[in-house]
Amino acid sequence: MSAEIFGRDAELAEIRGFLAGLRQSAAALVLAGPAGSGKTTLLRATAQLASEQGYAVLLTTPARSEVRLAFAGLTDLLDGQPSTVIEGLPPPQARALRVALLAEEPPAAHPPDQRVIAVAFRAAVQALAAAAPVLLVIDDVHWLDQPSETAVGFAVRRLQGEAVGLVCGQRTGRPGAELPLELSRARLTARLLPVGPLSIGALHRMLRTRLGSSFSQPMLRRIEGESAGNPFIALELGRALARRDVTSAGHAALPVPDTLSGLIDEHLADLPQPVVETVQVVAVMPDASLDQYLAAGATAAGLDAAVAIGLLEQDGGRLRFSHPMFATAVAARIAPVRLRDLHAAAAEVAQLPEARARHHALAAVGVSASVAADLHSAGRAAAARGAPANAAELFELSASLTPSDQPADLARRRLEMARQLSIGGEIRAARTALGILIEATPPGPTRAEALSLLGGLHQDDFPAATKLLLQALAEADGDPRLTVDIRLRLSQSWMLRGDQQRSRDEARRCVADAERSCDAGLLACSLALAFETDIMCGSEADERQLTRALELERLAASSPLHISPTQVAGVFYFIQGRLQEAESAQRRLLAKAEADGNEQGRAEALLRLSRIAGRRGDLDTAAELAADAMEIAEQLDLPRPVVSALYGCAGAALQLGQVTRVADLARRGRELAERTGDRPYVIFHEALLGSLDLALGDYPAAAARLRPLARELPGIGWHPTTQSIAPDVAEALIASGALAEADEFLTMLQRAMPDPLTTALATRCRGLLAAGRGDFAAAVAELSEALAMHDRFSPHPLERARTQLNLGRVKLHLHQRAAARAALSEALGVFQNAGSSLWAARTLAELARISGRSPGPAVLTATERRVADLVASGRSNKDVAAELFVTVRAVESTLTKAYAKLGVRSRTELAALMHESASGMATGGPRD
Ligand SMILES: Nc1ncnc2c1ncn2[C@@H]1O[C@H](COP(=O)(O)OP(=O)(O)OP(=O)(O)O)[C@@H](O)[C@H]1O
Ligand SMILES: [Mg+2]
Repeated sequence: MSAEIFGRDAELAEIRGFLAGLRQSAAALVLAGPAGSGKTTLLRATAQLASEQGYAVLLTTPARSEVRLAFAGLTDLLDGQPSTVIEGLPPPQARALRVALLAEEPPAAHPPDQRVIAVAFRAAVQALAAAAPVLLVIDDVHWLDQPSETAVGFAVRRLQGEAVGLVCGQRTGRPGAELPLELSRARLTARLLPVGPLSIGALHRMLRTRLGSSFSQPMLRRIEGESAGNPFIALELGRALARRDVTSAGHAALPVPDTLSGLIDEHLADLPQPVVETVQVVAVMPDASLDQYLAAGATAAGLDAAVAIGLLEQDGGRLRFSHPMFATAVAARIAPVRLRDLHAAAAEVAQLPEARARHHALAAVGVSASVAADLHSAGRAAAARGAPANAAELFELSASLTPSDQPADLARRRLEMARQLSIGGEIRAARTALGILIEATPPGPTRAEALSLLGGLHQDDFPAATKLLLQALAEADGDPRLTVDIRLRLSQSWMLRGDQQRSRDEARRCVADAERSCDAGLLACSLALAFETDIMCGSEADERQLTRALELERLAASSPLHISPTQVAGVFYFIQGRLQEAESAQRRLLAKAEADGNEQGRAEALLRLSRIAGRRGDLDTAAELAADAMEIAEQLDLPRPVVSALYGCAGAALQLGQVTRVADLARRGRELAERTGDRPYVIFHEALLGSLDLALGDYPAAAARLRPLARELPGIGWHPTTQSIAPDVAEALIASGALAEADEFLTMLQRAMPDPLTTALATRCRGLLAAGRGDFAAAVAELSEALAMHDRFSPHPLERARTQLNLGRVKLHLHQRAAARAALSEALGVFQNAGSSLWAARTLAELARISGRSPGPAVLTATERRVADLVASGRSNKDVAAELFVTVRAVESTLTKAYAKLGVRSRTELAALMHESASGMATGGPRD
C-alpha cells in the first residue's frame, strides 16, 4: 500500500533510530506539520518498517467526522490482538476494557472508571511488549475520540522502561506548539519531528511518478513556490496543470485556481453524479462497512469508480478517502437537505446505538421528542461504558432537541450532562452547566439535585458548598431519597468544616428520614454516618447502630453507597485497638474494590492495612502495603490519593527510622496538599516532620513544628490519624516547657477520644508532664499506669516500648539503675525486632549512660553482620544483594535491623562503627 517516498532521508533516518531505541525504553515521536505536508506518508512507512522488524503494530486512523464514537480508537488499536492479552489482565481491568470495547454488557451498578480502562490498556500493551516490541500508531491524533484519547494518553504517559513506542501524526500549523496527549508530562521521552516542505528535486520525482507528467524546471520552481513545498498542494497544482496540458511556465499567473479549495473543487467537479452520490455516503459515515454503504444508498459501480480514480482507497478491510481533505471537501459540498437525508439513511443502517442516535440527531429538522429520547438512551449507554465525555455530549444534544413542552425532560437531560462532565473531570464546565440549569429551572426536586451536585463540586469552598446544600434541602420537597442524599453530603460538609455538632445533628436527621424512605442502602449509610459522627464528637457511640448498618449494607449489596458502613466499622475497630476485626473489615473492602475495579478504593484499603500492620509492629509489611498504595495512587494521578499514599509511606518510613526518606516524602506530601488546598493533609504531613524531629531527639525543632498544630488539630475531627499525631504534639508541648498548654491539650484529647490507646498515650504524656514539673514519683506512677493500660487494651508494641523508654529514663533519674536497665532493655528488644532504628538508637543511648559503653557488632546475627560488613566497605545495596544472592529488599530489611541494633542512622555511621570494631575497640555489645 505504501507508495514510493521521495526526499525524506533525514526524517526516515530519525525514524529508524527511534524504532531501534524502543528496544531499550519507551518513547514517542510526533510527526507534526500542516495539512498535506506528508505526515501520513511517513507514518505508514514507520508502521511498515516496524512490522518488518517484527514489532507488533497497533494502529488507528481516526477520520474527521461529526459522529465520533466512544472508544472507536481504542477498539482499532486492540483489533486483531490475541484475546489472551485481555483475558490475562486482573479481572476488574479485563472487565472494564471489555465493557469499553462493547465486548461485554456494562455492569448494573458501577460504570467502569475511565482510569481503570486506561490502566487496563496500559497493562495489555505491556503484556504484548513482553513478546515483541510494540508500536502504537495514531494518525490524525487530533481526531481521536475523547474516551480513547483519555485512555491512550494516560497509558502512554506512564510508560517508561517498556519496549513500547508511540508514533502519531498531528496536523498543526505551528509544529511544536503543543504535544498531543499531554505528552509533555510523560515519563517517556517524546520528540517532535516537524514534517516540512519537500525539496524541488523530491517534488519533481513525486510529480513525475504520480502524475506521469514532466514539468519544465521553471514550472517546477513555480509549483514549489505556489505550494511552499507542500506535496498535497503540489500534486493538486500538477493535476490542474496537466488537465490543461500546461507543462512550462511563462511569467503570467498559473492558469489554475489559486486556492487549495479551488483546486480540490476542480478535481472533484468532473465526477459523474453517481460517483458523487456514492462518495457523499462515505463522507457522512466514515469507517462503515461495504454493506452499510450499499444499504445507505452507495452503488457498487460508484465505489469502484471512486477507487479507480484514486479518490477512495482500501485501508485494511475499509474504504477510505485517499486523503482526509477530499472527505472534508466532499462533505462541505453536500446541500443541507441532502445531508439530512444521508444522515437519516445512515441512522437506519448504523449498528451501534450511539451512532444511530447521532445520525438521527443530524437528520432531525428542529426539535424532536423521539430523537431526544434516543439520544438520552445513548447518553446513558455511553455513561455505563465509562465514556463520560461522550455521554455528556449526547445528553447535551438530547437536551437541545427536547421540545419546550417537556421542561422536566429538558432539566433532567441537562442535569445528566453536568453529572457526566463532573465524572469526566470537567469540573468548570460542569459548574457552568449546573449554574445555567439552576437559573432556568423552577424550584423542585430536579433543581435540588442540581444544587446538591453543585455543592459537591465546591470542594475548595466548604462554606459555599454548605449554602448550596442547605438550599437543595429546602427544595427537595420531602422527596425521601433525595433529602437523605443531601443530608448525607451536608453532614460530611459540616464535618470537613470542623463543626462536629452540626455534622452529628444532620446525620441523626438522616437516620430519621432514611427510616421513612424504606431504602436499605440509604439507611445503612445514614446509620454509619451517625455512628461515625458520634465518635468524632467524642460521645459514647452505640455499636448496635453500627451492627445494624452492616446488616443493611449486606442487604443493599448491589447499590452503590456513598458511605460504606464496613469502612466506618474498620476505622472504629482500629481506634478501639480491635485489630483483628479492623483487618478483616479492610480485607473485605479491598476485595470489593478489586471486584469493582475501584482503584482509589484499593489504595485506601491498602493504606489502612498498612497502618494496622504498623500498629502490630510489623513494619516491613506496613512499608510494603503503603508502597503498593503509592503505586496505585501515582497511576491514578489524582492529588488526594497521592497525598494520602505519601502520608502512609512516610509514616512507615518514620517507624523504620529512614530519616531522609521521611523528610522527602512528608515534604512532597505537604507541598501537594498545600497546592490543592487540602489543609488536613498539610497538618498531617507537617506533624510527621515534627514526629521525626522528636524521634531524633531534636526537641526545639519538634516543638516548633508541632506546637502550632495543637490548636488546629481539634478542628479537623478525631480519627486514626489524630490518634497518632496528638501524643507527639503533647510531648512536644511538654518538651518545650509549655506545661499548662500541654495539660489543657491532654484534657481535651482525653475527653474527645476516650479510646484505650489514646487513654494509654495520654497517661504516658501525663507521666512526662509530671516529670517536667519535677514530680518524679507521680511520673513513675503515671508511666506505670500507662504500661498497665497498654497491656490491658491496646496491642501497640512500639508505643508500649516508648512508654517503657520513658519509664526507664525517669528511673535512671531516680538512680534506680537496675529497674531502669530492665525497662530500657525490654524496650530495646521491641524496637530492634521491629527495625525501628531511631527509637532503638535513643534507647541504646540511655543504656549506654548506665553501662558507660557503646554497642558493637557482636549483637548482630551472622547475616546482619555480613551485610553490615559489605555496606561498611562501601558496597551499594544492589551490589550486596548480588553478592549474597538475595533481593535488594532483603538487604534493606536486614540493614534496617542492623541499624536498629547498633543505634546508627546512616551508612557513614555504620562504617565508622564497623571500623572501630575491626580495630578491637567495641566488640562487647550492650549486654552486661
Ligand atoms: N515524501 C513524499 N513522497 C511522495 N509522495 C508524498 C510524500 N509526502 C507526501 N506525499 C503525497 O502527498 C499527499 C499528502 O501527503 P500526506 O497524506 O502524507 O499528508 P498529511 O500530512 O498526512 O496530510 P493531512 O494533514 O491532510 O492528513 C499524498 O498524496 C502523499 O502520497
Ligand atoms: Mg494525513
